[in-house]
Amino acid sequence: MSLRIEHITKKFDAATVLSDIDLEIRDGEFISILGPSGCGKTTLLRIIAGFLTPTSGEIKFNDRLYASNNYSVPVEKRNLGMVFQSFALWPHMTVKEHLAFPLQSQKVQQSKDVENRIIDKILAVTGLEKLANSLPGELSGGQQQRVALARAMINKPKLLLMDEPLSALDADLKLSMRQEIQNIHKITGATILYVTHDQSEALAMSNRIVVMKDGTVEQFGTPEEIYGKPQTLFVAAFVGRHNMISGKWDGKQFICKNGTAFPAVPPAECFIEKGICPLRPEELEVNRDNIGICVEIVSKQYNGREFLYTAVDADKKTYHFYAIVTMLFSAGQKIHLTKKSV
Ligand SMILES: Nc1ncnc2c1ncn2[C@@H]1O[C@H](COP(=O)(O)OP(=O)(O)OP(=O)(O)O)[C@@H](O)[C@H]1O
Ligand SMILES: [Mg+2]
Repeated sequence: MSLRIEHITKKFDAATVLSDIDLEIRDGEFISILGPSGCGKTTLLRIIAGFLTPTSGEIKFNDRLYASNNYSVPVEKRNLGMVFQSFALWPHMTVKEHLAFPLQSQKVQQSKDVENRIIDKILAVTGLEKLANSLPGELSGGQQQRVALARAMINKPKLLLMDEPLSALDADLKLSMRQEIQNIHKITGATILYVTHDQSEALAMSNRIVVMKDGTVEQFGTPEEIYGKPQTLFVAAFVGRHNMISGKWDGKQFICKNGTAFPAVPPAECFIEKGICPLRPEELEVNRDNIGICVEIVSKQYNGREFLYTAVDADKKTYHFYAIVTMLFSAGQKIHLTKKSV
């Protein structure tokens, strides 16, 4: 049981938007697709859903061919649910009517009793029991989002496609909706493909993450692998905002340009070849003995427990690091950064 995305390429006229995407997703996995705007996330989801046909390659679900360049199973026959960024609710239909609609569109009709039982269950799962007779205009953004989720799940799809479903919500609501979606995943056991460009969302929710750039897959791995062992410079910069320290690798040591040595676990080959040590902001610290990379403070952001500082070195290269609130620096001040010893 799996979703196979086999060598998918998509061209719009001369523009190649997806290039040889090859992924195997296991039954029941929660997969996030993470990448910057325009990298092809929505296009990939639309091909899996059946709204677009691939230029080449195949989509298979549980060994059944869903799509190739000359074959396509219609959207309604793919046994999938979809939630998109805009909730796309009908203003004249109550919550309950939104949920009844997909049930009534199925080939095999259920009795009213069975239908009501299914609707009551999904209303309970999504915490919408008291709002069953409300119209979308009477609901908050989060409640509308839950209706969209409930509607996507009502036919018990084996595959749920979500395209930035939380992007329209405020920070608090986002957090509670994340939990809601994780709950739904646990209850239904559906395979979920979840598009986001929010890395913390992807790290928090997924079994595995696909990081995309310019229509290609940069890395596919667990959140720990993506965050802790980036395989490309792009993944290191995009996830975890790594500082790219220049110098050269000498076995288990990294020698910075100014000769300071950092003991470090060697990263992926591409970093070694390019003489780069990727370090996350939390892996750097201010050295009180003026050892390390000399940088000038540019700005700081307060986050309650500490400050996140931005600084530049003599080559105007940018660094990000944290320092506790009692260790205050101001713009223009020169300090030295070293790798924290673990
Ligand atoms: N129907 C289309 N015709 C031509 N080009 C398209 C079409 N749909 C998408 N594109 C182009 O394909 C590229 C990828 O678009 P896509 O919507 O998949 O990006 P995305 O990763 O979802 O971005 P975002 O994070 O902004 O939603 C973009 O450059 C876009 O302009
Ligand atoms: Mg998109």
